[in-house]
Formats: sequence, structure tokens, C-alpha cells
Amino acid sequence: MSSTAFTNIATLVTNDLTHGNGALGALQHVSIVVEDGLISQISNADPSGVDHVIDCSGKTLLPGFVDSHSHLIFAGDRAEEFAARSQGQRYSSGGISTTVAATRAASDEQLKANAQALLNEALHSGTTTIEIKSGYGLTERDEFRSIEIAAQFTDETTLLAAHVIPTEFKSDPDAYVNLVIKSIIPQSNAKWIDVFCDQGAFTPEQSEAILRAGIAAGMLPRIHANQLSAGKGVEIAVALNAASADHLSKSTDRDIELLAASDTVATILPGAEFSTHLEPNLGRRFLDAGATVAIASDCNPGSSYTTSMPFCIAAAISLLGFSVEEAVHAATLGGAKALRRNDIGMIAVGMKADLVLLDSPSYIHLAYRPGVNLIHSIYKSGKAVRTWQK
Ligand code: NIG
Ligand code: FE
Repeated sequence: MSSTAFTNIATLVTNDLTHGNGALGALQHVSIVVEDGLISQISNADPSGVDHVIDCSGKTLLPGFVDSHSHLIFAGDRAEEFAARSQGQRYSSGGISTTVAATRAASDEQLKANAQALLNEALHSGTTTIEIKSGYGLTERDEFRSIEIAAQFTDETTLLAAHVIPTEFKSDPDAYVNLVIKSIIPQSNAKWIDVFCDQGAFTPEQSEAILRAGIAAGMLPRIHANQLSAGKGVEIAVALNAASADHLSKSTDRDIELLAASDTVATILPGAEFSTHLEPNLGRRFLDAGATVAIASDCNPGSSYTTSMPFCIAAAISLLGFSVEEAVHAATLGGAKALRRNDIGMIAVGMKADLVLLDSPSYIHLAYRPGVNLIHSIYKSGKAVRTWQK
């Protein structure tokens, strides 16, 4: 048994509306106790009899960010493609094949080192849980090793063998769908199954068949939908009770109503909106309809090359219509719901002590001081994984 108290917390974001105030269940000048990796106490008084005390005067403690959507298993980058967009080029799914070629040519060690470097970045910006997708291999061998590498870093692994139709199957897309269903899915032990249901990727029929095959193999469904064009992705997600539908940029009012009435989380990807096109009112539309909303990084070398959840929070607020509270909630409890996790995303008795301590008296500074790393320290299951002293 080891216990740690975090005392004199200027602002504690609990996300527990039964205890705290406002949309984030915030409390001022309180303490919490962590025992054996779990939160055991939240109180106004200074706890006694604990093994370690961390003074949090002037600081904000919040649940670690839950990044429910990332593509970290790849090689190379596509900086020129980004620069071309700054001169008017439109984003399309076509660039994915550049990364597929680089990924296939990379060794396991290179893929692992690249993912590790990105994970370090994510951790340094406060991400304590991350989902990682495959999807730049698109062969049995490359999808299999992508999931193997992802599984070394997280339990939240996602098979996205249906990212695009690989070049060698362009003349017979259904043959690739068949390969995914008959061969890649049965060999994969990913937790989640995902598909890019969009223009230039997979049709609704192909997407549904792939998700159903994944479900039959024991995986849980999630989907990339309506990023480039409106389609049937949301309808499929809701019908299959997917944990989340992601991107959603071109969603219709009916899609939004469907999501709001379902258990499927609407995951908005501010980094992709920022780096490709922009749907300025995107967040507001889902929030006003009453959908459960998450924010994730979508970290990938094409549409959103950022690992920073604070950046995504700031972008959601100034570009997509979120309030500060809505954005912080979406990046913590929203992400946990998008992964159907009920042990993270909240600071309440019994929850995992995955915590971020900010060097600022309020969470507002996450967006108010954009681009500045305000993270003082990070804890996973109550253990400091990283501390910066000023
Ligand atoms: O989520 N939309 C599909 N996949 C990625 C982008 C992949 C890429 O451009 O390399 C996304 O944005
Ligand atoms: Fe994505």
C-alpha cells in the first residue's frame, strides 16, 4: 500500500457533476489522495498519514487527456503535401499511399522508434491514454506487425486495414475487401475495428461488411465518417452501436440527430480541421444537438500531424465553436466514453489516478496560452511518469 496526497490544488477538474461545480465539476482549494493507483479521497482538509505529499498551490489538476484516435504506426512524413495545401491544394485520401509505401519499406525497429517518439510527445503534452490504429500497411504482414507494435504501447489497438484500397488492388477493390475480411481480420487481435467510409476510400456496403466481420471476430466497431463527403457512415455506426464516429466534418443535420439519439460518441478532430479544411461551426452543431462529444488528435502524417491535446483543445475553442469547458470535457471524459472506458476521464473515488498537473491556476490557460506547454507533471495510476520543475 502506498499513498500520495495532492494538496492545496488551486483548481481540481473532476468531471464529476455530482460533486463539483459547472460543466467540469470543478472544485477550488481541495486535496485528493491516491492509494495503490486509484483515487481514494477528495477533501477540503489536508489529509494526514499519507506516504507522500505533493503541494499543488497555484496549479490545476485534471484527468489525463484521453486521445481516442491516432495513427502512430507509419514511416516518413508528407511536409510538402501540407505546404501545397497552404497554396490551395485540397486534401484527399490519395496521399495515404505515399505513407503506405514508406511504412512497408520500414523495419519493425524503425516503426517502433517512430511510434515511441510520437508517444513521448503525447505524454509530454498530457495524454495518459491513447488509441493507436494500423492502416499504413494494407497487407497481411504489414497490418499484423502494425498491430503488434501498437500493442506494445497501448491496450487500445485498432485494426484499420480498411484505410484505403491499396494501389495493387485499384482495379479490383472488392478483392482487397475480401482479403481484409477473410485473412487480415482473422489474424488480428486488435481490440477495435475501424474503416474509412468516405469518398476515395470504402463504400458504405464495403464498410459495413468489414465492420461486421470485425465484430464477428470479437472486435468492437468505430468508424471514420463524413470527413471528405456526406455519406452513410454515421447511419452504419449507429446501427452497429459503434463506440464512436470520427471526423464528421460533412455531417448532415440527420446524422447529427442520429448520433445525439444514440450511444455512439461524436469525435471531432480539431487538428485535421486545422490542417486540411475547416468547418467553423462543427463542434457547436453536435454540442447543441446534445450528442456526447470527444476531441482527439488524429495524429497522422497527412491530415493532422500533432500529438498535442492542449493544441486540439485550443483549436476546438477558437475554430470550432466549443466553450473552454466543453473542450476540456471532450478531451478527457469525452475521449474515455469514445473508448467505452469507465475507469478514466474523471477524478472521483475509485477511478484510476491518471492525472495532469498544470502550471496554471485554471484550466482556461490551456487555450488562453496557446502553444505554451503548461504541463508541470503527469501521473499514470498515481505514479509520476514525468515532472518538470521550473
Ligand atoms: O483520419 N481519414 C483517413 N485517415 C487519416 C488521414 C490519413 C492520411 O492522410 O495519411 C485521418 O485523417
Ligand atoms: Fe483518422
